[in-house]
Amino acid sequence: MIAIPVSASQEYQVLIGPGLLDELGTQVRAISMARTAALVAGENVFSLYGQRARASLEAVGFRVLCFVIKPGEESKSLAEYGRLLQFLAENRLTRSDVLVALGGGVTGDLTGFAAATYQRGMGFVQVPTTLLAAVDSSVGGKTALNLESGKNQVGCFYQPHLVLCDPLLQKTLPEEEYRCGCAEVIKYAVLNDEAFFERLRRIEIRDQLEEVIQRCVEKKRDIVEEDEYDRGKRRLLNLGHTFGHAVEACSGFTILHGHAVAIGMVMVTRAALRKGFCSQETLRRLLEILTQYGLPTEAPYSHNSLLQAIYADKKMEGNTLHLIVPEKIGRCKILPLGIEEIGDWIIQEGEE
Ligand code: GLY
Repeated sequence: MIAIPVSASQEYQVLIGPGLLDELGTQVRAISMARTAALVAGENVFSLYGQRARASLEAVGFRVLCFVIKPGEESKSLAEYGRLLQFLAENRLTRSDVLVALGGGVTGDLTGFAAATYQRGMGFVQVPTTLLAAVDSSVGGKTALNLESGKNQVGCFYQPHLVLCDPLLQKTLPEEEYRCGCAEVIKYAVLNDEAFFERLRRIEIRDQLEEVIQRCVEKKRDIVEEDEYDRGKRRLLNLGHTFGHAVEACSGFTILHGHAVAIGMVMVTRAALRKGFCSQETLRRLLEILTQYGLPTEAPYSHNSLLQAIYADKKMEGNTLHLIVPEKIGRCKILPLGIEEIGDWIIQEGEE
């Protein structure tokens, strides 16, 4: 088992190892004296792994309650959040009890926000079952709900007390969700690790899953420890996300997040090339690896729709947007842009 310590406003460990799901109870018991553990999972994940998680928690004496949600973004809603809080209250959970998120980003974001706010904060454990959640959303303490007006509009920073990642759970991951996780992994390599980028080119991610998760979690840990509240360096993790979120919004959220991040990385690199921040070679290599992993690189939305979607995104801070711009594979910079400059950075295929 690999143990990665994270030292943020809350100290915790990210444990990575095949078969760890069966140690969930022992590991949660090691960090919590809770009487009750409430397990939150999507329907599919619950039918695959819910009973094993429950048995492991019961074996060490937890009273276990299960709250099953519909899979998909719709569950990151105020209504579902209210239902979860009501469930906790009806079952008389207290702030010393623990919520366990078993699933991907949706489950983790909803459960984290409920854990952060129920009785002003209770125990919270993340058990990521997707590649994307393992390398990104389960670590670092971002929690979120969606509003009609956009994704992740409500949320807070609330670090988990434990992250337990069993890579074997990803064996049942649908292919498209695997690819979405690959986009986030590639993002880390483009950000600051050219050797990792080359390794991803040579060896398929699923054939080196544990090592890849470890490397990405360590990278994210280093950034979160320096800038937990997203005021500086953590913004780097938004590589591909500014345009990516706009693409997602333009598609009415039918384009998957990982796909949108892949497209967003290409869009910002195209613009960086035109503006002289990187070479043609950087764009070529990015396109090559995304294609290798079966990820999309273009989306058919107009300049104006993308621009309007960016203006509406929470990444705007007043009249400024911090765009993450590749200078080469393995090096990116944070570029503050005024509102009037953003349109000039939206460059479609063939325009570079
Ligand atoms: N997913 C980006 C972050 O946690 O900052």
